[in-house]
Amino acid sequence: MNRVHIKTYGCQMNERDSEAVAAMLRARGYRIVGSESECDVLLLNTCSVREAAEQKAIGKAANIAHRKKKNPDFVLGILGCMAQNRGADLLDQLPDVDLIVGTQKFHQVPDFLDNLRAAREAGVPIGETIVDIGEEAGSQNTIKDHLAPEDCDGAPPQVNAFVSIQQGCNMDCAFCIVPKTRGDERSRPMDDIVAECRALAARGVKEVTLLGQIVTSYGRRDYTHTDGVSPFVQLIERVHEIDGIERIRFTSPHPRGFKEDLAAAYGRLPKLCEYVHLPMQSGSNRILKAMNRPYSRERYKEIVDSLRAVRPDMYFSTDIIVGFPGETDEEFEQTRELFEACNYDMAYIFKYSIRSGTPAAGMGDQIPDEVKEHRNQVLLDILRKNSERRNAALLGTVEEVLVEGPDKTGLRFTGRTRGNRVCIFDANPRLIGQLVPLKIDRASVSTLYGELVLGGVFDAA
Ligand code: 5AD
Repeated sequence: MNRVHIKTYGCQMNERDSEAVAAMLRARGYRIVGSESECDVLLLNTCSVREAAEQKAIGKAANIAHRKKKNPDFVLGILGCMAQNRGADLLDQLPDVDLIVGTQKFHQVPDFLDNLRAAREAGVPIGETIVDIGEEAGSQNTIKDHLAPEDCDGAPPQVNAFVSIQQGCNMDCAFCIVPKTRGDERSRPMDDIVAECRALAARGVKEVTLLGQIVTSYGRRDYTHTDGVSPFVQLIERVHEIDGIERIRFTSPHPRGFKEDLAAAYGRLPKLCEYVHLPMQSGSNRILKAMNRPYSRERYKEIVDSLRAVRPDMYFSTDIIVGFPGETDEEFEQTRELFEACNYDMAYIFKYSIRSGTPAAGMGDQIPDEVKEHRNQVLLDILRKNSERRNAALLGTVEEVLVEGPDKTGLRFTGRTRGNRVCIFDANPRLIGQLVPLKIDRASVSTLYGELVLGGVFDAA
C-alpha cells in the first residue's frame, strides 16, 4: 500500500502543494506513481473557486469508490480547498473517503497515511474517516519541500519551480471563496524564501514563480517599506541577486499593489520577465464596487499604461468574471471595451459561479446562464484575435526560450519565452535547462514553432 497518485485540480498554488506533499511522501518511503490505475492511494488535491471544479473532483471520487469495493485496502483522500470548504459534509456524498485534509494540514498527510497503513497491516478494521481541517499557526511555512529531479523516474531535470511566498487572503472580494479555503493572509519569512530559491538554483532551476493569493501584499505586516520600495519588491530584488536564477515571475497580484516601485522594478531588474497577470474582473465601476474590488476602470488602465511605458514589449494576461449578479448589458459592454483596450495576450474568462457563504451568493439579480455564456464568447473571440495577432507578429523574430523538456508527443521539445508563450521545437536533451535563441517560423493561436539558432546559446553553462 505504498504507491500514491496525486491528482491536482485548480491553480498553481494547488500544483505546488501537491508537489510538496509528494516530496514529503517520498521521504517517508512512498512511491509517487504517474497513473491512477497503478496506485494504492489516490489523493485528490481539490479546488473550490467555482462550482464546476468541485463537481469534477466529487465525480472523480464517486467513480473511484468502486475500486474500494474490489480492494478494501485502497485509500482515497480529498485534500486542499474543497476539503477545507466542505469538511466532513463531503461524507454525505462520498461515504467511502478515508481522508479529508484541509489547506493548513498538507504536511500531516504522511502521518495520516502511515496511521492508515499501520492499522490495515495490523488487521484493524477501518475506522472513521480522518478529517483534519483545523487552523495551524505557521502553516504558511510548512510548504517548502521540493521534488528532486532524481525522485521522478525518468523525469528531465527541473528547470522551473513554484515557490510559495504567502498563504491566504484578506481582501474579501464579494465573489471569492478563497478567504474561507485558504484562511488569513500570512507571509513566509523573506530569508526562508531566498534560501529556498538558492537551493533551487544550486539544483539547476533557472526560473522561479513566486506564488500567493495576493503576492503584491507580501510581507506588509512583517517588513517595512525602504526608500519607497515595498516588501514584495524587496523580495524580488533579493531573488534577483541569486546566481543561476535567470527568470522571475509571480502570480497572483492585485491591481492595488501596482505602485510606482513595482513598475520601476520592471525597468531595472532584467530577470523579472515582461509578463504580468493582472486580474481585472470587470470593466464597470459599479460592478467593481459591488465585487469589493478597490480600483476603478480608469485606475486599472493607468496601471497597464504605466507598465507598458516601462516595458513596451510587456505581455499581459487577466482574469474576468462575466455575469456577476446584476451585471447589465451596458456594464458588460464596459468590460468588453476595457478588455479590448488592454490588448491582452492571454486571459482567463469565467462565468460567475455562486459560492455559498460569499457576499455575492446572496445578491439578487443572478444572471441567466445563456447570458453569461454569450458574454464569455464575446470576450473569447477578442482574445483569440489578440493572441493570433501577437503570435503572428513574432514570426521571423528570435526569442529567448528556456528549454523545459520533451513536449507531449515526446518527439520534440517545449519551452517558454519570457512573455510566457509556449514554443515547440527540435532540440538535444542536453539543452534542457538552457536559455536558447529560437527563430519563430510558425504560429498558432496558442503556440509558437521554430528552429534553434545554431551556435547562439544564451547560457552555455
Ligand atoms: N465565479 C467565477 N469566477 C470566480 N473567480 C473567483 N471566484 C469566482 C466565482 N465565484 C475567478 C476570479 C479569480 C480567479 C482565480 O477565479 O477571476 O481571479
